[in-house]
Amino acid sequence: MEFGDVVRRRRRVRSYRPDPVDAAAVDRVLDVARRGPSAGWTQSVSFVVVTAARTRAGVAALCNEDAYVARGFDPWLSRAPVHVVVCVSPQDYRMRYAAPDKIASAGPAGWEVPFWWVDAGAAVMLLSLAAVDEGLAAGFLDVADRAGLRRLLAIPREVAVVGLATLGHPSAEQRPSASLARGRRPLGDVVHRDRW
Ligand SMILES: Cc1cc2nc3c(=O)[nH]c(=O)nc-3n(C[C@H](O)[C@H](O)[C@H](O)COP(=O)(O)O)c2cc1C
Repeated sequence: MEFGDVVRRRRRVRSYRPDPVDAAAVDRVLDVARRGPSAGWTQSVSFVVVTAARTRAGVAALCNEDAYVARGFDPWLSRAPVHVVVCVSPQDYRMRYAAPDKIASAGPAGWEVPFWWVDAGAAVMLLSLAAVDEGLAAGFLDVADRAGLRRLLAIPREVAVVGLATLGHPSAEQRPSASLARGRRPLGDVVHRDRW
């Protein structure tokens, strides 16, 4: 698919058909997702892929799916055939910037922006675009109970849970989020030329 079409077609999708996703397609999506840039080439972003129905139900409960369904939405997480927990370890950056080729840089201690979140965002975007390119769709959401998710999936303490991406075949009916009524900011509002 043309890059511009992939970008324009990407939407966060919260309703999936229950059919499983080909494991090779999931691997291709993750292979793209790991190709983003990272500060210091730390390459700390990692993914926990969950496909077992029972575990997905556990993840759904930790993300308060019941409350979401009670508001009239389709079950998003328990139905999405693939969950990808996006993780990153700030500790990896501290270690990377202590290496001989980086020791002259202030590193994370001097960063006004913790770049691990930037790197994780790049990975989420690549995952979302790769999903579209595979004929799939992705969603992304915050995790309500991070401690519970950490226990369920044995995620180490030093690894931060950035959020949960869902992958699957989009169902025909998508209920648009109220946020989209805001419309997209025009290019002229977003871009400042030569000065703010
Ligand atoms: C960092 C981030 C966090 C988000 N968290 C949630 C979330 O917790 N729940 C949710 O339903 N959507 C979440 N979204 C999806 C946004 O609401 C969605 O991307 C936005 O409304 C624009 O819609 P689009 O992605 O279809 O263009 C999140 C998106 C991003 C980038």
